[in-house]
Amino acid sequence: MIIGVPKEIKNNENRVALTPAGVSELRKHGHTVYVQATAGEGSGFPDEEYVAAGATMLPTIEEVYGIAEMIMKVKEPIAVEYDLIRENQLLFTYFHFASSEELTRAMIAKGAVCLAYETVEKSDRSLPLLVPMSEVAGRMAVQEGAKYLEKPLKGRGILLGGVPGVKPARVLVLGGGIVGTQAAKMAAGLGAHVILMDISLARLRYLSDIMPENVDTIMSNEYNIREEIKHADLIIGAVLIPGAKAPHLITRDMLKLMRPGTVLVDVAVDQGGCIETCSPTTHENPTFIIDDVVHYCVANMPGAVPYTSTLALTNATLPYALQLANKGWQQACRDNAELKAGLNVVEGKVVYKGVADAFSLPLVPVAELLEQEETV
Ligand SMILES: NC(=O)c1ccc[n+]([C@@H]2O[C@H](COP(=O)([O-])OP(=O)(O)OC[C@H]3O[C@@H](n4cnc5c(N)ncnc54)[C@H](O)[C@@H]3O)[C@@H](O)[C@H]2O)c1
Repeated sequence: MIIGVPKEIKNNENRVALTPAGVSELRKHGHTVYVQATAGEGSGFPDEEYVAAGATMLPTIEEVYGIAEMIMKVKEPIAVEYDLIRENQLLFTYFHFASSEELTRAMIAKGAVCLAYETVEKSDRSLPLLVPMSEVAGRMAVQEGAKYLEKPLKGRGILLGGVPGVKPARVLVLGGGIVGTQAAKMAAGLGAHVILMDISLARLRYLSDIMPENVDTIMSNEYNIREEIKHADLIIGAVLIPGAKAPHLITRDMLKLMRPGTVLVDVAVDQGGCIETCSPTTHENPTFIIDDVVHYCVANMPGAVPYTSTLALTNATLPYALQLANKGWQQACRDNAELKAGLNVVEGKVVYKGVADAFSLPLVPVAELLEQEETV
């Protein structure tokens, strides 16, 4: 198959969908890979490494879209890319269709095959192409929190791990899923005293078994949260209720219970946030202060570490990309239910229920399309 990797053009997006190692794998399986010049630069992969791995560099995005049967990207196409997309072209990237009717209608009109990273789903309902970004954000939450606890950045001026003879900081993590687990591990590793809360007792049992000594697990409820925030130096919001807005576990009135210089990192801000006073911020201007409490609410935290994020993402996407390239999208989706779940909009038809419901569009059963003749 002919695979094309355009350079991401969304503002501040430095990730790339394929590394030189990925090019080499695809080439080994007999595929041809075209990469737009400088596409990997933001993640630390120069053109020469792609060429050495067997890619052909193309100077413009038009040429990449013009030649490729499968386009591999990171972010959803933006308006200037719509007209470059060809009928039946396979697009493998994050789409988040339900949040953009314009994008959904544009992809329907183009007749492309849109396989969305975020809905590729395993039989245990986990989302293998979202997990890597949660891992990055969870680990980063502690790094950022530690930084903003410093006095010049308006924090309490406390070192996360303390020193011999001085107590370490207290870190409260709300939610013990992927983000929360990674955050708790990092904070514990730095020597902080960590409180990890979740509403699932089964999850707390598991976490209590695997976490180091300096992590306590506590059931999440309003009473316990009100108690813990009085003593916490850093609070990390990491809850998720799938398909719903995050619940406001910390309400505005609770800020008064916190000590001045407490730092809040609301990783769940992309789902509305679990701290009422949080609203999305950017890497250019990551924090704001309310009631002497520092709020860090960057909605795309992994964007600040494109090298790590690109490798984490492509480690997870490459095995699926290989299946798509080796078999074509129809056979690959017939053989692998995880990939089939990633199909959202196919040749002008919406095949994913969440997208059809979001914009009251007719839902076409994906099985109908998989019975047809191959198109890619
Ligand atoms: N800001 C960013 O850059 C960024 C990056 C990656 C992920 N995220 C977001 O981080 C959030 C967490 O993602 P995840 O992958 O860890 O999800 P996850 O599903 O793995 O974990 C969520 C956890 O929250 C728990 N939970 C639900 N309600 C709770 C409550 N009331 N109190 C305590 N715990 C509760 C669940 O039991 C679950 O263990 C999501 O909103 C995700 O979109 C943000």
